[in-house]
Amino acid sequence: MDRRLVGRDFLTLADFTAEELTYLLDVADRLKADPLGTRSLVGKNLALLFEKPSMRTRVSFEVGMNQLGGHAIVLSPEQVQLGKRESICDVARVLSRYVDGIMVRTFAHTIVEELAEYADVPVINGLTDLLHPCQVLADLMTIREKKGRLAGIKLTYLGDGNNMANSLMLGGAIMGLAVTIATAPGCEPPAEISTRAEQLAAEYGGSVRIVHDPVAAVRGADVLYTDVWASMGQEAEAELKRAALRPYQLNSELVALAAPDCLVMHCLPAHYGEEITAEVGWGVHSVIYDQAENRLHAQKAILHELLG
Ligand code: CP
Ligand code: NVA
Repeated sequence: MDRRLVGRDFLTLADFTAEELTYLLDVADRLKADPLGTRSLVGKNLALLFEKPSMRTRVSFEVGMNQLGGHAIVLSPEQVQLGKRESICDVARVLSRYVDGIMVRTFAHTIVEELAEYADVPVINGLTDLLHPCQVLADLMTIREKKGRLAGIKLTYLGDGNNMANSLMLGGAIMGLAVTIATAPGCEPPAEISTRAEQLAAEYGGSVRIVHDPVAAVRGADVLYTDVWASMGQEAEAELKRAALRPYQLNSELVALAAPDCLVMHCLPAHYGEEITAEVGWGVHSVIYDQAENRLHAQKAILHELLG
């Protein structure tokens, strides 16, 4: 086994080279082909720290650890109360004495960075307000599986400039995709992310642009991606976002303008009738359940390489 990723954190795709991400995707493909054939984590334990709800992330990490021969321990928000019951530093140092890795889903991205700073074991970002790198690794796996390549794929994301848009820009830029974010004025991704994504695109041959016209953005796209208009923790902005983002709904009219063999993607959970219609979400172009399945395989690759 190649040992180059052992001990690394998985906080943002921007910490990885195209070669390293390709390597993880290759491992993920191999694990998918033989789900019970690798028992590299026998005797190893992973803590799953949740400060927000989850279905896919929780189940896929837990099943992934089991399939690799290890074990996962789920910790709810009430149990840990990161930074309230005790400091992030103490949580990181104590957990490092028990477990071989920490997966965390939380609010501020600085929380996972602080955990990683003090933990002696790899920390994996299972979603922050800023980024969702595990999801995008699974999405890149899904696109490569369906299209046979990543470089040059035209991916248009419609909707809120949120954690998904951010990680898609970073991961897409590194893997050579042409990423377009179509969003309403005021809902754009933060400049720190778009600037970093532009730098990565220049380095790796991808491209990133942020536009406001949904119709022009979807023309000829190979992949159409969307996500909820109000992310977890941002429910107070839901009404405003609903009004602003209505023209960016992924519906049949927009799908008709994309490439005839385009993929429709959504990280789920979806709010059908808002950011995507049920007709499109469950339609012939949709690969949403393949994405959800690939969370398992992509995360097993991360666990196998970082904790193995
Ligand atoms: N896509 C995703 O992360 O789903 P959960 O919120 O259910 O984990
Ligand atoms: N943007 C969404 C993604 C959920 C997986 C959220 O943060 O709620």
